[in-house]
Amino acid sequence: MTKRKSLFSIAHDHFHGLMLAQMIKKGGQVLEGMPSTVDEKVRFTIHFYEQELVNHFYIEENILLPIVKSYTHKVDKHLDKMLEEHKEINELVSSLQGKENLNEKLDKIGRKLEAHVQMEEWIMFPAIQDALDEEELKKLAKELKENGYENVYRY
Ligand SMILES: [Fe+2]
Ligand SMILES: [Fe+2]
Repeated sequence: MTKRKSLFSIAHDHFHGLMLAQMIKKGGQVLEGMPSTVDEKVRFTIHFYEQELVNHFYIEENILLPIVKSYTHKVDKHLDKMLEEHKEINELVSSLQGKENLNEKLDKIGRKLEAHVQMEEWIMFPAIQDALDEEELKKLAKELKENGYENVYRY
C-alpha cells in the first residue's frame, strides 16, 4: 500500500459529500434526477446527514483521530480544525429544522461541506500521511477496515 493511498477508504465518502454540496449550494451544478426544489433538497440533506455524515464524522473523530494522536501530535491543529468544522456542519444541518431562510442555509451547508472535504483531502490527509510511517499507516488502514472502511483499491 502506498502512503498516498492509505486513506482512500475515507476519501471515497467524500465524493458523496461533494455531490451533495453541488446540489445544495447556490450556483452549483444541477444534477439530473436529483432533488431540485428547496423542500426536496432539505429532506435529502437531512437524510444524507443521518445516513452518511453522522457515521463518517464518528469514524473520523473516534477511530482516525485517536489513532493518529497515539502516533504523532504534529497534525493536532488539523484534527482540531476537523472537529470544529464537524460541529459547525452539525449545527447548520440542525438549523434546517427552522423553516425560514432555507435556501441560504442550504447554500451555507453546501459551501461549508465542500471546504471541509477540501481541507481534509488537501491538507489534513497529506499531513497525516507525511507524519506517520508505513507501518503506522497500515495499522490505521486496518483499524478503519475493521470499522467498515474497507479500502476499495487493490495494491
Ligand atoms: Fe470530516
Ligand atoms: Fe471526511
